[in-house]
Amino acid sequence: MASRFIRIAVAYLVIGGTLGLYMGITKNFVLMPVHAHILLAGWLSLAMAGVIYKHYPTASSTRLASCHFWLHNLGLPTFMIGLAYMMTNGHELPGGVLPIGATAVLLGFYCFALNVWRTVRD
Ligand code: HEM
Ligand code: HEM
Repeated sequence: MASRFIRIAVAYLVIGGTLGLYMGITKNFVLMPVHAHILLAGWLSLAMAGVIYKHYPTASSTRLASCHFWLHNLGLPTFMIGLAYMMTNGHELPGGVLPIGATAVLLGFYCFALNVWRTVRD
């Protein structure tokens, strides 16, 4: 579980960093919120969770950890694609795609928090 989180996290690092460089070169910052969330909700949050699951193995083998994994990893690409569409189309919401993705990520955070509160003890 920990390595799955960390391996996916570095994919977001590569994508988010590349997007940041593209924004800088083209001086087009319209996708800045996408860049920020790919790196913060993608790279940092997933890597942080991976390190916590590695450090507290009991937390990594629960149903809540699986729910966190799937909600975060299915929700975030949906959220980012919806947000990119919105930012490049005059702030029009792309149907339910963005809110569904964002809500899935948030539910994943809730699962993670509940899991940590239940299982992480020294
Ligand atoms: C190759 C690496 C990176 C490049 C080339 C890059 C480039 C950029 C650029 C051009 C902006 C827009 C700046 C502005 O107009 O104010 C920006 C904003 C931002 N970047 Fe990056 N970035 C990189 C890595 C990162 C990383 C690793 C993180 C976080 C872990 C990050 C988080 C942010 C955030 C949060 C903003 C929005 C700042 C604000 O709200 O003013 N970036 N980045
Ligand atoms: C369910 C997940 C999340 C949702 C729905 C969400 C939503 C939002 C919204 C609506 C904004 C304002 C965007 C704007 O007006 O430019 C924002 C900005 C921001 N959020 Fe999030 N966020 C989420 C997760 C996170 C996480 C996990 C982090 C950090 C670890 C984060 C860091 C930031 C930062 C730094 C900004 C300012 C970025 C900028 O200036 O473009 N967010 N977020």
